[in-house]
Order: sequence, then structure tokens, then C-alpha cells
Amino acid sequence: MIIDPLENPRAVAVPENPGFGLIYTNRMFTQHFTPECGWHDARIQAFGPLPLHPVAQVLHIGLDIFEGTKAYRRPDGHLNLFRIDRNMARLNRSASRLGMPQIDPDTHIGQIEALVRLEHEWVPRLPGCSLYIRPVIISTEETLEVRVGRKFLHYIFLSPVGPYFPMGFNPVSVYISHEYVRAVRGGTGEAKTTANYAGTVHVAEQVRHLGYEQVLWLDAIERRYVEEVGAMNIMFVRDGKHIITPTLSGSILHGITRESVLQLGPDLGYTVSEEKIDVDEMLDDIEKGRITEAFGVGTAAVVAPVGKFGYKGKEYRINDEQTGPVAQHLFTTLTDIQFGRAPDPYGWVRQIKVD
Ligand SMILES: Cc1ncc(COP(=O)(O)O)c(C=O)c1O
Repeated sequence: MIIDPLENPRAVAVPENPGFGLIYTNRMFTQHFTPECGWHDARIQAFGPLPLHPVAQVLHIGLDIFEGTKAYRRPDGHLNLFRIDRNMARLNRSASRLGMPQIDPDTHIGQIEALVRLEHEWVPRLPGCSLYIRPVIISTEETLEVRVGRKFLHYIFLSPVGPYFPMGFNPVSVYISHEYVRAVRGGTGEAKTTANYAGTVHVAEQVRHLGYEQVLWLDAIERRYVEEVGAMNIMFVRDGKHIITPTLSGSILHGITRESVLQLGPDLGYTVSEEKIDVDEMLDDIEKGRITEAFGVGTAAVVAPVGKFGYKGKEYRINDEQTGPVAQHLFTTLTDIQFGRAPDPYGWVRQIKVD
């Protein structure tokens, strides 16, 4: 891998509240793919605009996949990556779905580590903050033909981030969309590809006008079964001790936080299950007090408690719109492992030693 010298690097400056995805580090990683050479020309270079032909396939048929993971500052000053192998496996599954070439997971993890090590001073030391890592693969092939691509760019950039929600670890309000859907079984919902998000932002804007912060998506066929919330998987707590989450239906992203909670839950004294969750039954259970908590889970927010749902003009409040004990317990346990404040019995973290 070539590491370009930096001309005029910006001084490392992470504000006390960096926001989410608003500032970037000095360097990024890039490499290219062609059928003749495979992945080649791996390079760490100055962060900046990408040269892109106006006819590049990504701009016309959305051949674009990405990942989202984080580096965390440990109490000893070194860094942790969290379940990075799962991100690599998902990236390759997304690649398969969009007819893109695979990337060797170990090589890719090495590239992320090399970039993060060079930029380690950008990993915040502030509580609740971390360095967001965004690997992306796009088709740069110049063609208007609608077919699989042959030329790709893989790049990785880094962004120091604070809590995903401006209000921090506080309950969010969620509108259940009965008109629009995010993904359909057999479509691309299981892949982390831009098309799945493009169709959601306008709906998110509409629900914001109704006073809600996030959208909960139902299945596209019957508009009846609960799927995901924003860029998170959704979980509910029954009677304070049983965690349930929708079964992976073919249109739900295989979240790594979701997978971790399902593994962690029983060790923390909860029972867990994956179920088809009927929206009307779920709302009835909230009204009757049988569902005691709801929360989204994902890399960005880790655990985001839901304070209320809106559905067809009616409101359903949960736990007096307060963060519940299970959400708090999972948030603390997961972040303690991620930041290296607690032992990691699962082998989830991978340490990066920095000077
Ligand atoms: C649609 C969607 N669902 C769920 C998740 C949560 O996945 P993870 O826990 O791997 O971040 C994400 C974020 O990546 C997402 O974009």
C-alpha cells in the first residue's frame, strides 16, 4: 500500500460536540478494481473530492454499497474496533447482491487499521464520542448500460462523531409508516446499498413535520409486520424481561448491534426471541402495558429508546417517554465492551495499539 505524504494537513481538532458525520480526518483510503487486475493501487491519500466521470454507473443505476463501523478510544489510550469481521462479511454479502467483486476480509481490515492508526489522533477522547468508519464501493464504469459493473472504486473515510441523536441517550418519537415502505422481500433490503435509503428521506421529512423524529417501516407486502426503524433494527421488551425483535424477513438489514444484543441478552438475565411482530398487536400490547420498552439498535446510536409511536393519527406512549432499564442496561454493557471499560468475553473487540 502506498501512503502519500500530506501537504498542509489540518491540525487535529475535534470539537466538544462533533455532531454526526460533519467533520472528516485528513486522509482517506482508496483502491480500484478491474477484471484484469482485481483490486489494485491501494493507497492512503489526502481526504478530498473523488474524480468521477459523469457517466459513472454509480450515478445512474446506484451501484453503491457501504458499511458503517467505529473505532473507540480505550481508557489506556489505545483503540478498539467492534465486530469488524461482521461488517466485512456484510459488505461482501451486499457486494454479491449488487454483482460487485468480493473483498478479502483480512486485507480490508488491515486497510482500515492502517488508516485509523495514521489518523488515531482524530479518535475523540470525549465521553460518548468515537471515530466513525465508512467503507464504500461504487461502480466507476463509464456506461449507461443497465448491467453489472466492471470497474470499481473502494474508499474508506473517517469522521469523529458524537451521539447520533442531538438529544443524546433520550427517547425518540417514531411514526409508523403505513403508506410508504422501505424494502421488499427479494429486493435489496438486506444489502447496505444507497437505494434503500434514498426512498426514505422524504418520508422522514414528512414525519418530522408531524412532530416525529424517526420512521418505523412495516413489511411491504401486508403492511402489517414490523421491520426496522430509520437506520436501526427495532426491539421491544415484554414484561420487563423478554426482548423481542422481528425475524430477519429478507428485507431487514442484518444489524450487528441486533446480533450482539441477541447474544448478550441471555447473559444479562433476559430471554430473547425473534418473531413476526404484528403492528396492531404490538400497539395493543403497549396500551395494555405488556410491552414495557421499545428501542432501536445500531452502530450509530447503539441503543435508542423509543418514547412514543404514532400510527394512523393516534399516539402510543411507552414507559412515560422515559428511558427504560433494559435499554439502559444494554447500552451500558455494549458501550463498556466497545470502549474497553469492561472485559470482552465474546472476542468482539480488536485492539489497535497507537503511540
Ligand atoms: C437500515 C438499517 N438497519 C439496521 C442498521 C443497524 O445495523 P448495525 O447494528 O450493523 O449498525 C443499520 C445501520 O447500519 C441500517 O442502516
